[in-house]
Amino acid sequence: MKIFLADAEATLRLGITLGESLSADSVILLEGDLGAGKTTLVQGIGKGLGITELVVSPTFTLINEYTEGRLPLYHLDLYRLEPQEVAALNLETYWEGVEVIPGIVAIEWAERMPYKPDSYLSINLTYQHEGTRQAEITPFNCAISEAIASI
Ligand SMILES: Nc1ncnc2c1ncn2[C@@H]1O[C@H](COP(=O)(O)OP(=O)(O)OP(=O)(O)O)[C@@H](O)[C@H]1O
Ligand SMILES: [Mg+2]
Repeated sequence: MKIFLADAEATLRLGITLGESLSADSVILLEGDLGAGKTTLVQGIGKGLGITELVVSPTFTLINEYTEGRLPLYHLDLYRLEPQEVAALNLETYWEGVEVIPGIVAIEWAERMPYKPDSYLSINLTYQHEGTRQAEITPFNCAISEAIASI
């Protein structure tokens, strides 16, 4: 499904809806050009989960973990990595939820991943006219929640 995002507030609101409705072990793979709104969307997810701490871009830290919300949020940014470096991170640890508390995994620059989880939501953000954005959400082996489907 495609969702028009008129401004940053709309991107944030979509994230909030996701954060309110996603279940544990959800993986969101974010793709989109530099500045397309990936971090903004994850900031919304954080709000929707009830995280009051500021969600910031993990471009340099690779991963930021937030544990104060309804579910933990694991926010990754693979921008600086090559696919073989991504493979070495053993990201499946996060979505298998064995060694970590099951939560929501949101990954920016997911196109850098050499392998993907069995099920995930793909969100592709693209620039539209006059600086607006569009989100295209595609579920792989999972359902889009009622809350998202009715946007
Ligand atoms: N729908 C939108 N319309 C206009 N501006 C937006 C929209 N969504 C987000 N923005 C703005 O775009 C800018 C870049 O957003 P953001 O940092 O979230 O992008 P990003 O995809 O994470 O970038 P990067 O590729 O550097 O990680 C921010 O100033 C944000 O407020
Ligand atoms: Mg970002």
